[in-house]
Amino acid sequence: MALAAKPPLGWNSWNTFSHDINEDLIKETADAMVATGLKDAGYEYIVIDDCWSLRERDKNGRMVVDPEKFPSGMKALADYVHSKGLKFGMYSCAGTHTCAGFPGSLDYEFIDAKTFAEWGVDYLKYDYCNKPRHLDGPTLYRRMAMALRNCGRDILFSACNWGNDNTTEWIRNSGAHMYRSTGDIVDSWQSVKSIALSQMDMEKFSGPYCFNDMDMLIVGMYGKSHNGYIAAGGCTTEEYRTHFSLWAMMNSPLMIGCDIRDMNEDTKKILMNKDILAINQDAEVRTPYWRKEWDEEPETVIHMWKPLENGDYAIGFFNFHDGDCSGRLQFFDMGLPTRCGYGLRLHDIWEDKDLGVFTDRLETVIPAHGCKMFRASLVEL
Ligand code: GLA
Repeated sequence: MALAAKPPLGWNSWNTFSHDINEDLIKETADAMVATGLKDAGYEYIVIDDCWSLRERDKNGRMVVDPEKFPSGMKALADYVHSKGLKFGMYSCAGTHTCAGFPGSLDYEFIDAKTFAEWGVDYLKYDYCNKPRHLDGPTLYRRMAMALRNCGRDILFSACNWGNDNTTEWIRNSGAHMYRSTGDIVDSWQSVKSIALSQMDMEKFSGPYCFNDMDMLIVGMYGKSHNGYIAAGGCTTEEYRTHFSLWAMMNSPLMIGCDIRDMNEDTKKILMNKDILAINQDAEVRTPYWRKEWDEEPETVIHMWKPLENGDYAIGFFNFHDGDCSGRLQFFDMGLPTRCGYGLRLHDIWEDKDLGVFTDRLETVIPAHGCKMFRASLVEL
């Protein structure tokens, strides 16, 4: 089956829980995915990141699940996740050891792919720590891709080599379905800003069956990671809204990183905003076109737009500056000639307000670190 026709949606344990994972947490998270409405909104993968195994393989070379953290074993846990109508994901690494020092899959790719298939795994995140210097990324990701694509089960392959070794040049033909192109996100505005700005020229390398993964979301974490490095002080609700809108607009997979058993109302409203999710999950998943404001400081306000399947356009304004700024979008740049008898009817998504029909241009004020998101439909005047 062709996987990842649209950016994958789900949850991953790393950002909040780091090494502190266990069977109950994963089951409760699967329960919460259903109870909160996240599943109905489209989120489907529950992914266990690093730190799930023992430090050594068994005598047959198979990975061993940590019996204290996961006493019922992975097959039973996968069955539980599947019984909720969700999909189950796990983690390994292209090197000898994972980033946290557990066994990696180097030279065990085929045996590990088979093991994951037996356990009922639907998604594998594949990291890049502790690999021999003489082996390059293309070789290692091709290997695991071949193993996964022939293991007897559909397993989405989520590559994570942080953009090293010119990832974009070979990742699509390796067989991976998504790929990380930056270092790790932490729970701070600075981190969101630097990842987003570093990806502005990368949109052309992301598309159906192989998406640029801008890293797992920090929305709703508010500095509450069990990992001190990731906690990083947290963000404001406004900053989380901007982060989510950027990732959605840029077609990144949306893998939630907060504790979904304990989300505040703002977090739920962000993660389950139907109009924003529709922009990320549009049938055509076209990449956005983007511009910097011509008269602002560099990297202050960026606006983006992209065509949607039904003829509408998604429009976003993002303010990376520390004060309020105005943003101006000339419809001419989007393809609409001036005085041509057509205008754009705008819906402000976060305000959930119809703004009426605009001709020629849209000028709007965006608060510091904030964003404005619109859905625009062409209308005859
Ligand atoms: C790397 C990855 C992270 C996470 C950790 C786990 O840093 O980029 O997303 O998986 O490893 O150790």
